[in-house]
Amino acid sequence: MSAVEIQEKIAQLTQELNHYNYQYYVLAQSLISDYDFDQKLKELEALESQYPQFADPNSPTRRVGGDITSRFNTVKHRWPMLSLGNTYSQDELRDFDQRIRKIIGDDFEYVCELKFDGLSISLTYKDGKLVQGVTRGDGTQGDEVTANVRTIRSIPLTLKTKDYPEEFEIRGEIFMHKSAFLRLNKEREENGDQIYANPRNFAAGTIKLQDSAEVARRPLDCFLYFLYMDNRRKHFSTHWESLEAVRKWGFHVCDHTRLCSNIDDVFSFINYWDTERHNLSYEIDGIVIKVNDYAQQEELGFTAKNPRWATSYKFKAERVETILKSISYQVGRTGAVTPVANLQPVSLAGTTVKRASLHNANEIARLDLHEQDTVYVEKGGEIIPKVIAANLEKRKPDAIPFHYPTHCPECQTLLVREEGEAVHYCPNEDGCPPQIIGKMQHFIGRKMMDIEGMGNETIETFFKKGLIRNVVDIYSLKEHEEDLQKLERFGQKSIDNMLRGIEKSKEKPFEKVLFALGIRHVGETIAKKLALYFKNIDALAQASVEEIASVQDIGGRIAESVHQYLNTPIHQQQIQKLKDYGLQFEIEEKEVVLAGNGLEGKTFLISGVFADFSREELTALIESHGGKMVSSISAKLNYLVAGDKMGPSKLAKAEKLQVPIINEQELLVLINN
Ligand code: IVH
Repeated sequence: MSAVEIQEKIAQLTQELNHYNYQYYVLAQSLISDYDFDQKLKELEALESQYPQFADPNSPTRRVGGDITSRFNTVKHRWPMLSLGNTYSQDELRDFDQRIRKIIGDDFEYVCELKFDGLSISLTYKDGKLVQGVTRGDGTQGDEVTANVRTIRSIPLTLKTKDYPEEFEIRGEIFMHKSAFLRLNKEREENGDQIYANPRNFAAGTIKLQDSAEVARRPLDCFLYFLYMDNRRKHFSTHWESLEAVRKWGFHVCDHTRLCSNIDDVFSFINYWDTERHNLSYEIDGIVIKVNDYAQQEELGFTAKNPRWATSYKFKAERVETILKSISYQVGRTGAVTPVANLQPVSLAGTTVKRASLHNANEIARLDLHEQDTVYVEKGGEIIPKVIAANLEKRKPDAIPFHYPTHCPECQTLLVREEGEAVHYCPNEDGCPPQIIGKMQHFIGRKMMDIEGMGNETIETFFKKGLIRNVVDIYSLKEHEEDLQKLERFGQKSIDNMLRGIEKSKEKPFEKVLFALGIRHVGETIAKKLALYFKNIDALAQASVEEIASVQDIGGRIAESVHQYLNTPIHQQQIQKLKDYGLQFEIEEKEVVLAGNGLEGKTFLISGVFADFSREELTALIESHGGKMVSSISAKLNYLVAGDKMGPSKLAKAEKLQVPIINEQELLVLINN
């Protein structure tokens, strides 16, 4: 292909992918299968990595992130990010309406919008392209989080139509859908990571991550609700018109926004959403009311803190009182202890609440709960009921305070709390029943070893009957068929089915086995990365904490956890036994389809962090051109591909052995020659 043809192909793929993204993430319409989408994305990625001179920072391939920001730049807002006045009372809303009437008379309209419960963001576009995303910060200046914003699929990187102003800022709210929140929090809990209290905290924590690839894995969405530009009245005369326009440019504007001709219409809107909000896929905490006409907005102006032309009405969280009967402490698979309040059943926001999360020891201390306290319970973030406080007036004078246990309620081991963490752990990971059962249940899970014919209850029963004590025993079950036959409700057919499932699981690839082991902080993606990088368990077990942490996206905490796990004798014995049973502890080298043979017969080692490629991408690039990757430096090594932050000892060794050291650009030159 000629340079022009390549550029054209890149432009065509970019446009197509942007269109599919828009249809899917903004209009919720799927026009293409995931597989076909991925194929097109891969094609574009390959072109961009082969011809980096044509790569665009706003390419749809950048949605997967990869840029690391070590410190966010502080950026001053051109238009300050004001907050809105707020009220919980409809009377006060009438006062707001009266004040407006006094200034601009009776001839005006309101725009009513949902008040999204997320974090506000300001996006700048120049020539139809996203150039900057900044958080609210203190309202005057915020953090520049552009790399992270680029990963949000519903935020257009390039606008759809051509009738936009040369430069503008658009404000909106970044949020996480309830379903994604529940799913990701569950995953975090399973991986032994701290969970977030509500979708807003999850979204806020995500946008401040330094690793944009991790941001890309956490599905965020963004509704836009306000446009700023010079001479805006030349283009639009009302807020409503501006929303219609930005919707056409490709922004996600909420469909529930309404024009209201008077305050009574506003009240109907409020009353409707006060109950209907529970059926939305995301959380809102109120309604925003804005005067529609720009000229009238300007006439009304601002107070010191807020616009006079807008305000917000907040919904009261539904709160009830009930008796705290007891607190139980649940021990999870990773040993994390979760306190749960057992309540006198009470009806709240349409459901009967019997239990509420108490999060951790800090929360219990803060609430200073006593036995038989009367407590206020709210549906925090509409999802998980939360104990807000005790009603002190109703506390009996001789009530005994609750204290966080010092020992595991299941196995009586002394609990530990890692520095900087709020959660207590039971360290007895190989002897504490719920942890053992939880680990085995995790091991057989669908995304791990996916053992057919074996479920969570089977694991529990087998454990209680003494048939299995750890994951290794699952593979010796076939030697105990008579014991299995003696179990109630377990016929020969089920036994055969299960034993077949167990046999079949031995074919699961290394990355699944690594995930299945249940190492703390090692989730599905981390396991995949480790497997791809180290290729087998022995190389991973021999790696130092620093080496593990040098893999892209693997932080120090994860590296420590992996290192510790693999250097514990009991785990080493278990892994050896699993190997003997035939489980996969190395990756199968895939046949690579050669894109070229420019690197044939040459060996490569990559080290450090690269600007344009992830290490996996570089490996794929080298292998697809006939090069061979090796894992250690020797005099025979043909090239060391060096990025930033390469270890000094590696560099010294390469220099001593006179191995040619090249950067990523030089690698591309080698390939193209
Ligand atoms: S308009 C000057 N519209 O609520 C106009 N804000 O206290 C400023 N919010 O910081 C904002 N939904 O984060 C506006 N439909 C909506 C909103 C909204 C949520 C947030 C926003 C802002 C806060 C106001």
